[in-house]
Amino acid sequence: MESKEIRKKFLDFFEKKGHKIVPSSSLLPTDPSVLFTTAGMQQFKEYYLGKESPYGSNVASCQKCFRTSDIEEVGDIEHLTFLEMLGNFSFGGYFKKETIELAWEFLVGPSLKLDPERFWITIFKGEGDIPKDEESYRIWKECLGIDQEKIYEFDREDNFWGPTGKEGPCGPTCEIYYDLTGKPCSKGKNCIPSCDCGRFIELWNLVFNEYYQNREKKLSPLKQKGVDTGMGLERLAMVMQNKDSVFEIDLFQPIIKEIEKQSLKSYCDNRRAFRIIADHIRGAVFLASEGIAPSNLEQGYVLRRILRRAIRFGKLLGLTNNFLIPLAQKVIAIYQDVYPEIKTKETDILIVFQKEEEKFEKTLEKGLKEFDKLLKSKIKNQKSKIIEGKEAFDLYQNYGFPLELTEELAKEKGLEVDKQGFAKNLKKHQEISRAGAEKKFGGHGIKKLQTTNYKLQITKLHTATHLLHQALREVLGEHIKQMGSDITPQRLRFDFSHPTKVTPEELKKVEDLVNQKIKEDLKVQREEMPYEKAIKSGALAFFKQKYPKIVSVYSINNWSKEICAGPHVQRTGELGSFKIIKEESSGAGVRRIRAVLK
Ligand code: SER
Repeated sequence: MESKEIRKKFLDFFEKKGHKIVPSSSLLPTDPSVLFTTAGMQQFKEYYLGKESPYGSNVASCQKCFRTSDIEEVGDIEHLTFLEMLGNFSFGGYFKKETIELAWEFLVGPSLKLDPERFWITIFKGEGDIPKDEESYRIWKECLGIDQEKIYEFDREDNFWGPTGKEGPCGPTCEIYYDLTGKPCSKGKNCIPSCDCGRFIELWNLVFNEYYQNREKKLSPLKQKGVDTGMGLERLAMVMQNKDSVFEIDLFQPIIKEIEKQSLKSYCDNRRAFRIIADHIRGAVFLASEGIAPSNLEQGYVLRRILRRAIRFGKLLGLTNNFLIPLAQKVIAIYQDVYPEIKTKETDILIVFQKEEEKFEKTLEKGLKEFDKLLKSKIKNQKSKIIEGKEAFDLYQNYGFPLELTEELAKEKGLEVDKQGFAKNLKKHQEISRAGAEKKFGGHGIKKLQTTNYKLQITKLHTATHLLHQALREVLGEHIKQMGSDITPQRLRFDFSHPTKVTPEELKKVEDLVNQKIKEDLKVQREEMPYEKAIKSGALAFFKQKYPKIVSVYSINNWSKEICAGPHVQRTGELGSFKIIKEESSGAGVRRIRAVLK
């Protein structure tokens, strides 16, 4: 059964069972305490806490997810960074019995017709004050007739989920495993779902949200119980298509074939490298489609890390320059019908990839040579088996090696990297750059700022920054995200994500648009509202920042809307005339504009 059909069968099944089908949310979550959307339940988090769901109490989705925690695992048969997660959810609707019965019906009933004998179940055995999940045990055993030899109990680490982020709903889980081989390994009776022999694959996770965990990690019972289930589409397709790994399913084959075509090597002889490249390129396409550009910060760093890792594994296979482009095009062709946004963003994605590849190409060979030198000197002098923090930092700073790449190279040679030492060097470097920047832009000006005149100038530039942000989005596209902002009484400086240089024509358009909005003398309005509501209403937020629960939102005539602490002028007419004085790069994928008001 093709993946396309599995996706459809899942959503159709749950729709028939009274669920509202909700589209996937973005990979960039609204919860600022997590980098990416890692699970289907994230977009519904507040409905578990009693907020009324606009979709009703039972929903289902196929959600785009990205999991950085699994980057190192990619290469085996089942782990992926990007994945599609099929899930059904209930907020105060049904609970354990219905969830388990629905899952079972979908798997072994007319939809998929999988063999019931192949399934094994794990449940939560209880830990500390949290009791064992007796109810689920009984349902599996008594209602569905699962042999008790196939039901195992595990502790909190394995059978308890959440919360995502710093706080939220969480609870015990039932995990449904599929027996791929039907035969125990040499461990005999001890070959059970936790065995790492490859016999079992975790297919579906049923989470019963009964608790709320706060920031101090304290649990309290949730007033309204909820259900959150998640099943990786790729793993299910692997089972349905009878394949040995997720990389052999229909969604990956065109990518694997393209790597074979370009490298003239076979997948069977080079599985790990093929899998890493295929996974990372797919993940990178989806990240870049969200407007993320490679950088040394947060989401941008993750994108850089997977692209550079793919390039390095590409080198091992002898892939030549710009090999990322045709692979990215394959990914886009596979997914464009389901996720049209990746087709719309095709050009942007390809430019981002090409630039990053060119950038890394320039230093990769030199960096690898440097690494070899380092290695040789350590072996020759029989020095310690540690790559010092300073050495790893030099590779990062001079050759663009993400720390994890150095770690991986080191591991291959039996060495370790002093990560803390690396972090110390990085911090020292950042402090030096910051001190430099302050000196340059008038850190001495504190006293002056206190004069009314200067304060007013800063307030005006603040409002101008909002106009600029929105104008950039209109002229260049919605992928523009604020990456930084700095205002002195003389000028504003605005950093934003964009893969290429902004052309003089585009800059002129942006400048004209801001001046037009100034001329229209629009009213600037401030409103207070909960953070979630602000985001839902379309207010822009600086994604690196953590916001309080209630935020103030500044709107300029419904044209620009941003979460911001202010202050701002009352009307745009007060700003005078806006002029862009410089546009330049501020790191990979980040552009910087300086502008003044006259
Ligand atoms: N949140 C759970 C998971 O991601 C079930 O959806 O595994």
